[in-house]
Amino acid sequence: RIFPVILSGGSGVRLWPMSREQYPKQFLPLCSERSMLQETALRVADPARFAPPLVVCNQEHRFVIAEQMRQIGQGGNQGAVPGGARIVLEPVGRNTAAAAAIAALIVAEQDPDGRLLLLPADHVIQDRTAFLEAVSVAARAADAGCLATFGIVPTAPETGYGYIRRGLPLDGPVDGPEGAYRVAAFVEKPPRAEAERYLAEGNVFWNSGMFLLPARRYLEELERWEPAVLAACRAALAGGRADLDFFRLEEEAFAAAPSISIDHAVMERTDAAAVVPCAIGWTDVGAWSALWEIGAKDEGGNVCHGDAIAWDSRNCYVRSEDGALVALLGMEDAVVVATEDAVLVAAKDRAQDIKPLVEHLKAQG
Ligand code: GDD
Ligand code: MG
Repeated sequence: RIFPVILSGGSGVRLWPMSREQYPKQFLPLCSERSMLQETALRVADPARFAPPLVVCNQEHRFVIAEQMRQIGQGGNQGAVPGGARIVLEPVGRNTAAAAAIAALIVAEQDPDGRLLLLPADHVIQDRTAFLEAVSVAARAADAGCLATFGIVPTAPETGYGYIRRGLPLDGPVDGPEGAYRVAAFVEKPPRAEAERYLAEGNVFWNSGMFLLPARRYLEELERWEPAVLAACRAALAGGRADLDFFRLEEEAFAAAPSISIDHAVMERTDAAAVVPCAIGWTDVGAWSALWEIGAKDEGGNVCHGDAIAWDSRNCYVRSEDGALVALLGMEDAVVVATEDAVLVAAKDRAQDIKPLVEHLKAQG
């Protein structure tokens, strides 16, 4: 079986005013009736193939997560963590290399040959069947000792993603899994000009941010490249304690871990990376423009959600969350999001720039 690990550490600032610090985007029903966290857990709800997922998150979010998992019938203690809990609480965020290390240590303890499926809590995947297929291919790559990534065909020179250059088909012990390739190069978040060059070259994929890793292999790589992260995580687990449905990492030890992403810490440096190119309807729901892209559109190309209409308007995203009727007239490429206490009106092509706006608002109090 594969051990799914859901990483829930982001704050989703660019989806303000719906996404807030105490209640970030992965807990919101942004794209369906369920939250992205719930959709992520349900995507791997297949006991024949997957263990119950482990969630690694900030302690601030423990009750939201416990409640949302309960709502989809995945509550309570059935996991692998010491004490039986399946929600591991980070006292502070130490980025994804550490979060993955905690999960890998827990899984390796249970099953020395265990494989981890790392899943960001804030992605949309529209084709579950294709996703499960890609996971099977990646699992075979992992069994051949690889750290498997999932490659998405890039559509623009985005600078917020990792870029993976495909190498030769993977040679496994017998004759490697079909559909998996060695990684010739992994470059995390390159500058724009470089991203443009990769796109022109072809044979390059975006890193989806999901990984299938043999637990022990990941720990070995981390030991090699970022031993301080591994040491801190070991100590935080050893000093941690079970608390109701949760497992709390020891704060001082965990805080000592260098804050670095798995991409920079391991994926850019290792020789053992593989890529499984896949078409799974993947979207990193980073900003309102992404929700417009995947939303159901009217004849004018508008996506309307809740009590909202876009009259004589084109390619707008309109959303009303709190019963207020929101009407657009003669607008183009606009984003309007109304919540109980805040309304955002923005140009759609500025959706990436909400972060500085929110920081400004915060500074104003
Ligand atoms: N538990 C925990 N703790 N989770 C975390 C932490 C942390 O400290 N930091 C981030 N995460 C979670 C986020 O919530 C998200 O689900 C996932 O880990 C990835 O982190 P991001 O911060 O969103 O990474 P990114 O989007 O900048 O880049 C990654 O994803 C891209 C695709 O969306 C990289 O893997 C890129 O290479 C990739 O292209
Ligand atoms: Mg992300």
